[in-house]
Amino acid sequence: MTFPKHVRLFEMGARDGLQNEPGPVIDTAIKVELVNRLSDCGLSHIEAASFVSPKWVPQMGDASAVMQGISRKAGVTYSALTPNLKGLEGAIEAGADEVAVFGAASEAFTQKNINCSIKESLERFAPVIELAQQHDIRVRGYVSTVMGCPYEGEINPDQVAAVSRELLDMGCYEISLGDTIGVGTPLKAKRMLEAVQKQVAVEKLAAHFHDTYGQALANLYAVVEEGVAVIDASVAGLGGCPYAKGASGNVATEDVLYMLNGLGIETGVDLQKLAQTGHWITAQLGRTSGSKVALAMGCDS
Ligand code: HMG
Ligand code: MG
Repeated sequence: MTFPKHVRLFEMGARDGLQNEPGPVIDTAIKVELVNRLSDCGLSHIEAASFVSPKWVPQMGDASAVMQGISRKAGVTYSALTPNLKGLEGAIEAGADEVAVFGAASEAFTQKNINCSIKESLERFAPVIELAQQHDIRVRGYVSTVMGCPYEGEINPDQVAAVSRELLDMGCYEISLGDTIGVGTPLKAKRMLEAVQKQVAVEKLAAHFHDTYGQALANLYAVVEEGVAVIDASVAGLGGCPYAKGASGNVATEDVLYMLNGLGIETGVDLQKLAQTGHWITAQLGRTSGSKVALAMGCDS
């Protein structure tokens, strides 16, 4: 058992959390306030926007306005998704500190999500990574469907490892392993990680687990035990993926934080403030928080 002393929480609420929100497009002012409240909780990494086609993902159509509207807090990295050069150019213009390309271990999911094959996606990412590096902007790489695909079912961990390695070799500083549809279980998570670690050092890996089947916390415990020290999570458990029907949000940041606090692992994040932020954003969306911890703490927490 080698628990890390410190875990970096990468907050996904404003991007993964809101990208799939049904109904009318959420006001830019609400998105901006969410990001500002999140930075106030002590989160140092916040994915704030997504520079994708607004026809594909209407909720992210105001990415530039969100990125430019944020009150920048010193020491906080505000990142954005950039699937191609058009997206990267928008992100650079809007002042993103960091960007991310997103691929998958499944051919079918790659087609549905970004309209190309795995090979084509990597070819598309190459100039994105190159241009970002010219601007001294770090690039994160996501690999989706690491424990199962909504179209292909089981995914071979070696395929996850291969795509992860490609992204790393192309210049991504970190690879975030996405259980996009939350079908993983702890042993499966360990086995997947074991395969990936043969290609990518654990220090360069992040866990991005959706909680569709309620397994995300258990899966996180399993990989943190193996040394993973970066966790993607979404305040109030907001979200889902537009190209993975039925997928629910990332694991709630409050729930992850409560678990890490219990393990004595530092994060620098204030649980009270975070739970309040989760209650605030879900009230804006007309529902209650998806975080069990925030619900247990109550709205006046
Ligand atoms: P495409 O249709 O193949 O692209 O889409 P295209 O190059 O042929 O362009 C078509 C149109 O889109 C053109 O406009 C472009 O200008 C426009 P038109 O001439 O028709 O008016 N366009 C753009 N507009 C704004 N920003 C851009 C952009 N690029 C093209 N960057 C594309 C390819 C990748 C753009 C499209 O498939 C897309 O936007 N997909 C978005 C998918 C997405 O956002 N998925 C959710 C995020 S991934 C995720 O949630 C998983 C993750 O959380 C990890 C996990 O959980 O596993 C990261
Ligand atoms: Mg996701």
